[in-house]
Amino acid sequence: DWTMENFIEEQVRRIREQVGGKKVLCALSGGVDSSVAAVLVHRAIGDQLTCIFVDHGLLRKGEAESVMKTFRERFQMNVIKVDAKDRFLAKLKGVTDPEQKRKIIGNEFIYVFDDEAAKLEGIEFLVQGTLYTDIIESGTATAQTIKSHHNVGGLPEDMKFELIEPLNTLFKDEVRALGTQLGIPDEIVWRQPFPGPGLGIRVLGEVTEEKLEIVRESDAILREEIKNAGLDREIWQYFTVLPDIRSVGVMGDARTYDYTVAIRAVTSVDGMTADWARIPWDVLERISTRIVNEVPHVNRVVYDITSKPPATIEWE
Ligand code: XMP
Repeated sequence: DWTMENFIEEQVRRIREQVGGKKVLCALSGGVDSSVAAVLVHRAIGDQLTCIFVDHGLLRKGEAESVMKTFRERFQMNVIKVDAKDRFLAKLKGVTDPEQKRKIIGNEFIYVFDDEAAKLEGIEFLVQGTLYTDIIESGTATAQTIKSHHNVGGLPEDMKFELIEPLNTLFKDEVRALGTQLGIPDEIVWRQPFPGPGLGIRVLGEVTEEKLEIVRESDAILREEIKNAGLDREIWQYFTVLPDIRSVGVMGDARTYDYTVAIRAVTSVDGMTADWARIPWDVLERISTRIVNEVPHVNRVVYDITSKPPATIEWE
């Protein structure tokens, strides 16, 4: 009968049979699916697995460090961390169009991954965290027609690896249960969705280091306060956005002319439709006060009260 323990045992047996003594590669993003797939494959074949984690400089505060800590220290996995921040920022310089930004980030991710993979020898397999729902949804019209989606699983089709997809019979809730069973921390198992292009599509218009810093710091405050208020599991996704506008404010008795930060928080089941979250006023007030006090160059905070449709969850 179907139990999580049996599933793990069966997958471990199958992966060993498929791989034999050969080497396996995995693109680790820190997201639920790739993390669970990687840990499961690691359980089966240990050091025959190498993971590549591309830090594109568009991650949230503390994210790269936390991913490395989990996989290197806790699971003792081989993880190659690629610091590609400068490469991505250089490619994004002067680019303001959302679709162009998405494409640049998605392509650059593949180039960086390819470059790293080419340095390794004898790899024959690639792990992908494909879920059952990913299989049934591809082929139907999805959000991809509205925004070109990039995620870390989306590697080039001409890669000469044989695929290992141990999650392709599972739904998201089963993947979370599996992750917990495998000892993956809640922080990853219950992580809110985070787009492949990362903060690159939450800084509207041109992406600069200064703007990334503002969105990263304000987002960290928002996440902390949502967690403190005990709302982190009921709000499906919550983050800050930096619209490309500045406005007049007053600090002490001096005029300021600085950035506006927008808070986006939605409830949803699958991201296809969403309702703006009714965060209590006092929580919003705390978030707003902290952001203007703690994040330089921000003098105004607004709350996005549109649902999807007609708005999308991300602003770009
Ligand atoms: P939108 O903005 O289209 O987003 O309402 C729906 C959900 O998809 C996430 N999203 C992405 N996820 N790669 C991803 O893996 C992407 O390029 C991407 N763009 C948006 C978004 O965060 C929301 O959860």
